[in-house]
Amino acid sequence: MMSNASLLILPGDGIGPEVMAEVRKIIDWYGAKRNLQFDVSEDLVGGVAYDKHGTPLHDDTMAKALEVDAVLLGAVGGPKYDALDFSVKPERGLLRLRKEMDLFANLRPAQCFDALADFSSLKKDVVAGLDIMIVRELTSGIYFGEPRGIFEEGNERVGINTQRYTESEIDRVARSAFELARRRSNKVCSMEKANVMESGILWREVVQKVHDEDYPDVELSHMYADAGAMQLCRWPKQFDVIVTDNLFGDLLSDAAAMLTGSLGMLPSASLGAPMANGRPKALYEPVHGSAPDIAGQGKANPIACILSFAMALRYSFDQGDEAARLEAAIEAVLADGARTADLMGPEDGTPMSTSEMGDAIVAALDASL
Ligand code: IPM
Ligand code: MG
Repeated sequence: MMSNASLLILPGDGIGPEVMAEVRKIIDWYGAKRNLQFDVSEDLVGGVAYDKHGTPLHDDTMAKALEVDAVLLGAVGGPKYDALDFSVKPERGLLRLRKEMDLFANLRPAQCFDALADFSSLKKDVVAGLDIMIVRELTSGIYFGEPRGIFEEGNERVGINTQRYTESEIDRVARSAFELARRRSNKVCSMEKANVMESGILWREVVQKVHDEDYPDVELSHMYADAGAMQLCRWPKQFDVIVTDNLFGDLLSDAAAMLTGSLGMLPSASLGAPMANGRPKALYEPVHGSAPDIAGQGKANPIACILSFAMALRYSFDQGDEAARLEAAIEAVLADGARTADLMGPEDGTPMSTSEMGDAIVAALDASL
């Protein structure tokens, strides 16, 4: 039995609403067939919130996000909003959620589905069976550090952002990485640039200290982030858990995502401290963006968003077996040849639509019973 579970759905912009409609089918399936009842509400974030309220995240939505057990987000942004002032850009809505919910640990798995190993830009033997987890620090670093801004200096302007990490910020995300590693292959590689950045020196020291004091059983290595990017492309299977800062994690997770064949496949979980009911503050979202070029055409791959819901089952609702069931259903439809456009070459025939993919996954769930 699962005690009552509240979900706030924020489809957002671009392909967000389309992929989220497929997640709704999955949520309904779990209600009907597995008796997992979710109390679902829906609201606006990003450009659509700006259109309605003049802000990418209304205070009421923020308050709701702080109350529920988990937030599921589609995507934010689009060319329509490019000219907006920085302070009200769609991305600011997402960044506010991350910051105010204090979601410091962003889990980004990069997993290669067997059926898609041929689709990677890397050789099949480099990616087949790949299963790594990037833990990206999400609430600090250069994304939030002060001073920041564009200032006048002499007769020109200067743009400033600040990389800043406290020991406690590094400590808590390092712990998340070590805890995860213990449930996987027990290896953590920490990435920074301690060769050029003081924040990197501190990062390395604190990660090592947390390891030596509390996780000596986990294998720990350190790598400069640029070398890490190179190693990710050369032989990604050397990694299990990678822990890194906000900006390096943003870059490395996109690179890792592409190793698996498609950005359309990858979910993420952003976790904070436990709430009174023991569940962590949590937001789940696909790694891909709003893909405005294909929005509204039924071409988007809903798998990343559906896998994000699988992560919610696992990390928020303690339903690891049901998460595995959903992941296996996705594996099965892919093995069966189901492909949205992003998983096909130009000469590979007619792709499935977003909703056909959702239906196929529901059918595979039925078959799993
Ligand atoms: C991501 C995105 C975001 C980020 C944007 C949309 C603010 O690239 O989640 O990786 O830079 O963190
Ligand atoms: Mg990114």
